Amino acid sequence: MTVVSSKKILEEALRGGYAVGAFNTSTLEATKAIINAAAKLASPVIIETSEGEFNFLDSNIIFDQVKDLSDEYGVTVALHLDHGKSLETVKKAVEARYTSVHIDASNLSYQENIELTQKVAEFAHKKNISVEGELGHISGSSEKHSEKIEINLSNLTDPGLAKEFVKETGIDILAVSIGNIHGVYTNPPELDLGRLERISKVKIPLSLHGGSGIPENQIKMAVKLGIAKVNVNTELRMAYAGELREELKAHPKEIVPYKILPEVIEEIEKVVENKIKLFGSEGKG
Ligand code: 13P
Repeated sequence: MTVVSSKKILEEALRGGYAVGAFNTSTLEATKAIINAAAKLASPVIIETSEGEFNFLDSNIIFDQVKDLSDEYGVTVALHLDHGKSLETVKKAVEARYTSVHIDASNLSYQENIELTQKVAEFAHKKNISVEGELGHISGSSEKHSEKIEINLSNLTDPGLAKEFVKETGIDILAVSIGNIHGVYTNPPELDLGRLERISKVKIPLSLHGGSGIPENQIKMAVKLGIAKVNVNTELRMAYAGELREELKAHPKEIVPYKILPEVIEEIEKVVENKIKLFGSEGKG
Protein backbone atom coordinates (compact mmCIF):
# COMPACT_ATOMS: atom_id res chain seq x y z
CA MET A 1 0.00 0.00 0.00
CA THR A 2 1.09 3.52 -0.34
CA VAL A 3 0.30 7.10 0.46
CA VAL A 4 -2.36 8.25 -2.02
CA SER A 5 -4.28 11.47 -2.66
CA SER A 6 -7.32 12.06 -0.49
CA LYS A 7 -9.39 12.83 -3.62
CA LYS A 8 -9.09 9.18 -4.64
CA ILE A 9 -10.09 7.88 -1.19
CA LEU A 10 -12.95 10.36 -0.79
CA GLU A 11 -14.49 10.03 -4.24
CA GLU A 12 -14.71 6.29 -3.63
CA ALA A 13 -16.28 7.00 -0.23
CA LEU A 14 -18.86 9.36 -1.73
CA ARG A 15 -19.78 6.78 -4.37
CA GLY A 16 -19.93 4.04 -1.76
CA GLY A 17 -22.04 6.01 0.72
CA TYR A 18 -19.55 5.97 3.60
CA ALA A 19 -17.08 8.43 5.11
CA VAL A 20 -13.38 8.16 5.85
CA GLY A 21 -11.93 9.41 9.13
CA ALA A 22 -9.29 12.12 9.01
CA PHE A 23 -7.45 11.72 12.29
CA ASN A 24 -5.00 14.28 13.63
CA THR A 25 -1.61 13.28 14.94
CA SER A 26 1.24 15.05 16.67
CA THR A 27 3.09 12.02 18.04
CA LEU A 28 4.35 8.69 16.79
CA GLU A 29 2.03 6.98 19.30
CA ALA A 30 -1.05 8.54 17.69
CA THR A 31 0.22 7.80 14.17
CA LYS A 32 0.77 4.15 15.13
CA ALA A 33 -2.64 3.89 16.77
CA ILE A 34 -4.41 5.28 13.68
CA ILE A 35 -2.59 2.90 11.32
CA ASN A 36 -3.14 -0.08 13.66
CA ALA A 37 -6.88 0.58 13.84
CA ALA A 38 -7.17 1.07 10.07
CA ALA A 39 -5.22 -2.16 9.46
CA LYS A 40 -7.35 -4.13 11.90
CA LEU A 41 -10.58 -2.99 10.23
CA ALA A 42 -9.21 -2.93 6.64
CA SER A 43 -10.22 0.72 6.31
CA PRO A 44 -8.69 3.55 4.31
CA VAL A 45 -7.66 6.44 6.50
CA ILE A 46 -6.48 10.05 6.34
CA ILE A 47 -3.75 11.16 8.71
CA GLU A 48 -3.68 14.90 9.16
CA THR A 49 -1.74 17.57 11.00
CA SER A 50 -2.76 21.13 11.78
CA GLU A 51 -0.13 23.86 11.40
CA GLY A 52 0.72 23.53 15.11
CA GLU A 53 1.02 19.75 14.88
CA PHE A 54 3.01 20.05 11.65
CA ASN A 55 5.47 22.46 13.32
CA PHE A 56 5.83 20.21 16.36
CA LEU A 57 6.50 17.07 14.33
CA ASP A 58 9.67 16.87 12.32
CA SER A 59 8.22 17.59 8.88
CA ASN A 60 11.05 15.61 7.25
CA ILE A 61 10.12 12.36 8.93
CA ILE A 62 6.32 12.38 9.16
CA PHE A 63 5.85 11.22 5.56
CA ASP A 64 8.35 8.37 5.98
CA GLN A 65 6.73 7.27 9.24
CA VAL A 66 3.28 7.22 7.65
CA LYS A 67 4.50 5.54 4.47
CA ASP A 68 6.57 2.87 6.23
CA LEU A 69 3.77 2.01 8.67
CA SER A 70 1.12 1.94 5.93
CA ASP A 71 3.34 -0.30 3.77
CA GLU A 72 4.03 -2.61 6.68
CA TYR A 73 0.35 -2.99 7.63
CA GLY A 74 -1.15 -2.70 4.15
CA VAL A 75 -3.22 0.43 4.81
CA THR A 76 -4.37 2.92 2.16
CA VAL A 77 -3.60 6.32 3.60
CA ALA A 78 -3.51 9.99 2.60
CA LEU A 79 -1.34 12.54 4.43
CA HIS A 80 -3.25 15.79 4.78
CA LEU A 81 -2.53 19.33 5.97
CA ASP A 82 -5.41 20.48 8.20
CA HIS A 83 -6.33 24.20 8.26
CA GLY A 84 -3.34 25.54 6.33
CA LYS A 85 -3.73 29.31 6.46
CA SER A 86 -1.40 30.42 3.66
CA LEU A 87 0.19 29.36 0.37
CA GLU A 88 3.55 29.30 2.21
CA THR A 89 2.31 26.66 4.66
CA VAL A 90 0.85 24.64 1.80
CA LYS A 91 4.23 24.78 0.04
CA LYS A 92 5.96 23.49 3.19
CA ALA A 93 3.51 20.58 3.38
CA VAL A 94 4.06 19.78 -0.29
CA GLU A 95 7.81 19.83 0.30
CA ALA A 96 7.23 17.39 3.17
CA ARG A 97 5.45 15.13 0.59
CA TYR A 98 1.87 15.57 1.85
CA THR A 99 -0.64 14.23 -0.67
CA SER A 100 -3.49 16.52 0.31
CA VAL A 101 -3.96 20.02 1.74
CA HIS A 102 -6.74 22.06 3.32
CA ILE A 103 -6.53 25.77 2.65
CA ASP A 104 -8.59 27.54 5.27
CA ALA A 105 -9.16 31.08 4.05
CA SER A 106 -12.49 31.23 5.83
CA ASN A 107 -11.47 34.23 7.92
CA LEU A 108 -11.09 36.31 4.73
CA SER A 109 -13.87 37.88 2.66
CA TYR A 110 -15.71 35.61 0.20
CA GLN A 111 -13.78 37.05 -2.75
CA GLU A 112 -10.40 36.79 -0.98
CA ASN A 113 -11.23 33.23 0.06
CA ILE A 114 -11.87 32.35 -3.61
CA GLU A 115 -8.63 33.99 -4.73
CA LEU A 116 -6.34 32.28 -2.20
CA THR A 117 -8.06 28.90 -2.55
CA GLN A 118 -7.79 29.16 -6.35
CA LYS A 119 -4.05 29.90 -6.08
CA VAL A 120 -3.50 26.91 -3.81
CA ALA A 121 -5.52 24.62 -6.09
CA GLU A 122 -3.55 25.74 -9.13
CA PHE A 123 -0.25 25.10 -7.33
CA ALA A 124 -1.23 21.79 -5.72
CA HIS A 125 -3.03 20.22 -8.67
CA LYS A 126 0.10 20.49 -10.82
CA LYS A 127 1.68 18.13 -8.32
CA ASN A 128 -1.33 15.82 -8.13
CA ILE A 129 -2.17 16.91 -4.60
CA SER A 130 -5.79 17.12 -3.46
CA VAL A 131 -7.21 20.40 -2.19
CA GLU A 132 -9.88 21.04 0.43
CA GLY A 133 -11.42 24.50 0.63
CA GLU A 134 -13.64 25.94 3.34
CA LEU A 135 -16.77 28.02 2.83
CA GLY A 136 -18.26 29.49 5.97
CA HIS A 137 -16.17 29.31 9.11
CA ILE A 138 -15.77 26.40 11.55
CA SER A 139 -14.86 27.84 14.94
CA GLY A 140 -13.47 26.44 18.20
CA SER A 141 -10.26 24.60 19.08
CA SER A 142 -9.63 20.88 19.54
CA GLU A 143 -9.89 20.88 23.32
CA LYS A 144 -12.31 19.86 26.07
CA HIS A 145 -14.26 23.05 26.75
CA SER A 146 -16.09 23.77 29.97
CA GLU A 147 -18.75 25.94 28.33
CA LYS A 148 -21.74 25.41 26.03
CA ILE A 149 -21.47 25.61 22.25
CA GLU A 150 -22.11 29.01 20.70
CA ILE A 151 -22.60 28.96 16.96
CA ASN A 152 -22.57 32.22 15.09
CA LEU A 153 -25.16 31.77 12.33
CA SER A 154 -23.27 34.09 9.98
CA ASN A 155 -20.45 31.51 10.00
CA LEU A 156 -22.58 28.78 8.43
CA THR A 157 -21.94 27.71 4.82
CA ASP A 158 -24.28 29.48 2.41
CA PRO A 159 -25.72 26.77 0.12
CA GLY A 160 -26.41 29.45 -2.50
CA LEU A 161 -22.69 30.15 -2.85
CA ALA A 162 -21.35 26.61 -2.60
CA LYS A 163 -21.63 25.69 -6.29
CA GLU A 164 -19.96 28.89 -7.45
CA PHE A 165 -17.21 28.52 -4.81
CA VAL A 166 -16.40 24.98 -5.95
CA LYS A 167 -16.43 25.98 -9.63
CA GLU A 168 -14.32 29.13 -9.19
CA THR A 169 -11.69 27.55 -6.96
CA GLY A 170 -11.44 24.08 -8.55
CA ILE A 171 -11.24 22.36 -5.15
CA ASP A 172 -11.66 18.60 -4.73
CA ILE A 173 -13.24 18.61 -1.24
CA LEU A 174 -15.44 21.19 0.50
CA ALA A 175 -15.35 21.74 4.28
CA VAL A 176 -18.80 22.76 5.51
CA SER A 177 -19.99 24.73 8.49
CA ILE A 178 -23.42 23.37 9.45
CA GLY A 179 -23.40 23.71 13.23
CA ASN A 180 -20.23 21.68 13.73
CA ILE A 181 -17.48 23.14 15.91
CA HIS A 182 -13.96 22.03 16.92
CA GLY A 183 -13.67 20.51 20.38
CA VAL A 184 -15.93 18.86 22.93
CA TYR A 185 -18.43 21.05 24.81
CA THR A 186 -20.88 20.56 27.67
CA ASN A 187 -23.73 20.07 25.19
CA PRO A 188 -23.70 18.18 21.87
CA PRO A 189 -23.85 20.09 18.56
CA GLU A 190 -26.98 20.07 16.41
CA LEU A 191 -26.16 19.76 12.74
CA ASP A 192 -28.31 21.65 10.23
CA LEU A 193 -28.96 18.69 7.94
CA GLY A 194 -31.35 20.61 5.68
CA ARG A 195 -28.51 23.01 4.92
CA LEU A 196 -26.18 20.07 4.29
CA GLU A 197 -28.63 18.57 1.83
CA ARG A 198 -28.69 21.82 -0.16
CA ILE A 199 -24.88 22.11 -0.09
CA SER A 200 -24.50 18.51 -1.29
CA LYS A 201 -25.66 19.58 -4.77
CA VAL A 202 -22.01 20.50 -5.41
CA LYS A 203 -21.42 16.77 -5.94
CA ILE A 204 -17.87 16.70 -4.60
CA PRO A 205 -16.91 15.01 -1.30
CA LEU A 206 -17.85 17.14 1.72
CA SER A 207 -15.73 17.36 4.84
CA LEU A 208 -17.20 17.54 8.34
CA HIS A 209 -14.80 19.11 10.85
CA GLY A 210 -15.28 18.93 14.59
CA GLY A 211 -16.07 15.20 14.51
CA SER A 212 -15.52 14.79 18.27
CA GLY A 213 -18.66 14.86 20.37
CA ILE A 214 -21.17 14.79 17.50
CA PRO A 215 -23.96 12.29 18.35
CA GLU A 216 -23.73 9.09 16.32
CA ASN A 217 -27.17 9.38 14.69
CA GLN A 218 -26.29 12.84 13.37
CA ILE A 219 -23.01 11.55 11.90
CA LYS A 220 -24.85 8.71 10.17
CA MET A 221 -27.40 11.09 8.64
CA ALA A 222 -24.67 13.50 7.55
CA VAL A 223 -22.83 10.66 5.77
CA LYS A 224 -26.04 9.79 3.93
CA LEU A 225 -26.19 13.42 2.75
CA GLY A 226 -22.69 13.55 1.22
CA ILE A 227 -20.20 13.84 4.07
CA ALA A 228 -17.26 11.72 2.89
CA LYS A 229 -14.58 12.90 5.34
CA VAL A 230 -14.94 13.37 9.09
CA ASN A 231 -12.14 15.08 11.03
CA VAL A 232 -11.46 13.84 14.55
CA ASN A 233 -8.91 15.28 16.92
CA THR A 234 -10.17 16.13 20.44
CA GLU A 235 -11.36 12.60 21.29
CA LEU A 236 -7.90 11.26 20.33
CA ARG A 237 -6.21 13.93 22.46
CA MET A 238 -8.49 13.06 25.39
CA ALA A 239 -7.60 9.37 25.04
CA TYR A 240 -3.89 10.19 24.90
CA ALA A 241 -3.74 12.56 27.84
CA GLY A 242 -6.31 10.66 29.92
CA GLU A 243 -4.56 7.28 29.61
CA LEU A 244 -1.10 8.78 30.12
CA ARG A 245 -2.30 10.37 33.38
CA GLU A 246 -3.82 7.06 34.49
CA GLU A 247 -0.67 5.10 33.71
CA LEU A 248 1.60 7.51 35.55
CA LYS A 249 -0.74 7.54 38.53
CA ALA A 250 -0.99 3.74 38.63
CA HIS A 251 2.77 3.23 38.26
CA PRO A 252 4.39 6.27 39.86
CA LYS A 253 7.86 4.69 39.83
CA GLU A 254 7.78 3.57 36.19
CA ILE A 255 10.10 5.55 33.91
CA VAL A 256 10.36 3.28 30.86
CA PRO A 257 8.46 4.84 27.92
CA TYR A 258 7.89 1.53 26.14
CA LYS A 259 6.19 0.19 29.25
CA ILE A 260 3.98 3.24 29.74
CA LEU A 261 3.00 4.07 26.17
CA PRO A 262 1.48 0.84 24.77
CA GLU A 263 -1.67 1.42 26.87
CA VAL A 264 -1.84 4.96 25.54
CA ILE A 265 -1.64 3.69 21.96
CA GLU A 266 -4.34 1.14 22.71
CA GLU A 267 -6.75 3.79 24.06
CA ILE A 268 -6.31 5.99 20.97
CA GLU A 269 -6.74 2.91 18.79
CA LYS A 270 -10.10 2.14 20.43
CA VAL A 271 -11.38 5.64 19.62
CA VAL A 272 -10.24 5.33 15.99
CA GLU A 273 -11.79 1.86 15.64
CA ASN A 274 -15.16 3.11 16.91
CA LYS A 275 -15.10 6.04 14.49
CA ILE A 276 -14.18 3.83 11.53
CA LYS A 277 -17.15 1.57 12.32
CA LEU A 278 -19.45 4.57 12.73
CA PHE A 279 -18.32 6.16 9.44
CA GLY A 280 -18.88 2.88 7.58
CA SER A 281 -15.37 2.57 6.07
CA GLU A 282 -14.60 -0.83 7.60
CA GLY A 283 -13.53 -3.28 4.89
CA LYS A 284 -13.19 -0.54 2.25
CA GLY A 285 -9.37 -0.34 2.36
P1 13P B 1 -12.42 17.84 16.79
O1 13P B 1 -11.23 18.25 17.59
O2 13P B 1 -13.68 18.44 17.31
O3 13P B 1 -12.52 16.38 16.65
O4 13P B 1 -12.23 18.45 15.34
C1 13P B 1 -11.08 18.11 14.60
C2 13P B 1 -11.02 18.84 13.31
O5 13P B 1 -12.03 19.21 12.75
C3 13P B 1 -9.70 19.13 12.73
O6 13P B 1 -9.80 19.97 11.64
